[in-house]
Amino acid sequence: MNQNINGNTKVLGLIGNPIEHTISPSIHNLLATKLNMNYVYVPFKVDEGMLDKAIEGARALDIQGLNVTVPYKEQVMDNLIEITPLAEQIGAVNTLKYTESGYVGYNTDAEGLNISLINNSIQLENSKIVIIGAGGAAKAVGMLCAREKCKKITIINRTVIKGEILANNIRQYYDVETEALGLDEIHKISPFDIAIQTTPIGMSPNVHDNPVKNDDFYKKFHIAVDLIYNPSKTKFLEEAERNGMKILNGFQMLFYQGVKAYEIWNDISIPEEILKEVMTDLINQYG
Ligand code: ATR
Repeated sequence: MNQNINGNTKVLGLIGNPIEHTISPSIHNLLATKLNMNYVYVPFKVDEGMLDKAIEGARALDIQGLNVTVPYKEQVMDNLIEITPLAEQIGAVNTLKYTESGYVGYNTDAEGLNISLINNSIQLENSKIVIIGAGGAAKAVGMLCAREKCKKITIINRTVIKGEILANNIRQYYDVETEALGLDEIHKISPFDIAIQTTPIGMSPNVHDNPVKNDDFYKKFHIAVDLIYNPSKTKFLEEAERNGMKILNGFQMLFYQGVKAYEIWNDISIPEEILKEVMTDLINQYG
């Protein structure tokens, strides 16, 4: 808890709904403390229909930076004066930076995942990737995989047409082989390298749910990534681990998308030793 709020304190925050589960305030307030910067980061729950007013109000209150989460990552794009090419490509914004004429939109989700994969020696280049889900998170994952020159992307989604749209979107920007299948067509997948689970299935409190129940699936690849961080090991990751795979949850992705946002807001590059300290504190706090 920041005990030193004073007349010079600048405010950062998160908008979304629901936001009660977020650990972003812990990440950013720890960063501010370790970097000795006079910032406080708070969650703002924005009700349906109130997004325009929230952004206008945030600007009037001189709020320097905002993260954006479900369900506003796409909708918020209408409220910005500028969007970075990467965010435009992904079609979603998770970070807003204050300027005098309005907020500029960024997407740090893809970069957060990229750093997390690199730190864990998981290589996208030349890999065959299966993405489970075709929502906002899957878009960032798909664009990242293509940008990093993966060999093939297969999108598995309950609603096949959404997977096909995402596959087409990716091919608009990158020359990569893509395929889209339904969740009920998993038996058709040929062996691949990395599965990246992007749906909310298995997230707390529904920890017993798993988007892929087909046993054969877990014999077809080597590395399982789940973007969920609560619980730290989803049923999907448990099943993958039981089959001898390397597994990675979404904690580091969350951490590094936050770090990248903090760096954008303050035009700084945070030293590696501070990142390690903050990461250790967070792991102690959240297991
Ligand atoms: P996010 O922005 O977090 O990715 P989203 O855009 O709502 O969230 O996307 C959620 C993803 O999880 C979608 O791929 C969705 O499948 P549909 O496109 O068919 O809706 C998937 N999903 C959510 N609940 C699901 C469920 N109970 N069974 C199967 N897929 C589900």
